[in-house]
Amino acid sequence: MPYYQTRGTIPPKRHIVFEKPNGGIYAEEVISSEGFSDIYSIVYHEHAPTQVMKIEEPIDISPKIAIDKNLQNRSLKGFNVKPVDDYLQSRKIVLTNDDVNIIIAAPKKSMTDYFFKNSDSDEMIFIHSGTGSLNTVYGELNYKEGDHIIIPKGTTYQFRFDGSDNRMFIVESRQPMKFPSRYMNKYGQLLEHSPFHERDIRTPQNLVNHDETGDFIIKIKRNDMIYPYHYQAHPFDAVGWDGYLYPFAFSIYDFEPLTGRIHQPPPVHQTFETSAMVTCAFVPRLYDYHPSAIPAPYHHSNIDSDEVLYYVDGDFMSRNNIQKGQITLHPMGLTHGPHPGAIERSVGKKRTEEYAVMVDTFKPLKLTEDALEIEDAEYYKSWLF
Ligand SMILES: [Fe+2]
Repeated sequence: MPYYQTRGTIPPKRHIVFEKPNGGIYAEEVISSEGFSDIYSIVYHEHAPTQVMKIEEPIDISPKIAIDKNLQNRSLKGFNVKPVDDYLQSRKIVLTNDDVNIIIAAPKKSMTDYFFKNSDSDEMIFIHSGTGSLNTVYGELNYKEGDHIIIPKGTTYQFRFDGSDNRMFIVESRQPMKFPSRYMNKYGQLLEHSPFHERDIRTPQNLVNHDETGDFIIKIKRNDMIYPYHYQAHPFDAVGWDGYLYPFAFSIYDFEPLTGRIHQPPPVHQTFETSAMVTCAFVPRLYDYHPSAIPAPYHHSNIDSDEVLYYVDGDFMSRNNIQKGQITLHPMGLTHGPHPGAIERSVGKKRTEEYAVMVDTFKPLKLTEDALEIEDAEYYKSWLF
């Protein structure tokens, strides 16, 4: 998405004969978004990417809704989600609506016997702990703690984890996730006032051509079902590609905070947007420098958004008793604000060390059965003095 990239070997023009050294023609695949009207990439495969051998029975993974209509401030203990060996089984949807799934995952083992393709949604995977690489037809994307990994809808991938301690906060978005349009000029370049820059964005490297045939399982997610497809060719059999559509990563540690003399509103922390939500990154920063400034946020009613905060690290200044991996949900329809004492505590402070990721959805979120298992049921009373 961020800008034009090319890897490996590609022919001088699109849609012309591209011969293999030992005879035959490479299989060209155009991977395009929004019909043929938005970003796309062109991939050159050793083998046609259409050779389906078998389809197994699909598996329903629809979220199990426990609370359909919510008007209560909620808190979930994300680190109470138990680690699970398998990546797909580790993904627990906790909050959901027609546009977005919010997922906590703690997978222990690398994906070795299957690939995954999410054909419902773009994914933003925030890496809370663990290192490894995301492998795709575009190459290898090495990642570490603090990275947001953006995986476009329809990208077949495999995670290789360096260890067994992996914690992820995942946002699935049915609408494409883009940088905020106000950060970009008309050519798509990030502007000077953007809190991040092209140099902060990491793209797939080390393109390896897996010229292999056999039995390769791609678990395809579509309409909340997983369809196990068996293909004859390895999905990462590209000799080259170019375009704008590929997974990429950028670190919360590379987000440059925008600060002011008085409290700055949440959009200064924004990272991505869709037509149905926004995401933000809260990072260590100098506090407001008006002599009477209150650095803690004011009480607020964001009447058109459900607000989800995922606490990553540091001392979150507006909240009491917040743990790493904790989620708060402050729904539209209710006022929320700093916890008792937080306003007074913040006056005169010079900086904050907090790290958090925020998701504001424009439709109300539902809670799942998995959410209730890790809920702090008393949270709604936590503003009492
Ligand atoms: Fe808020």
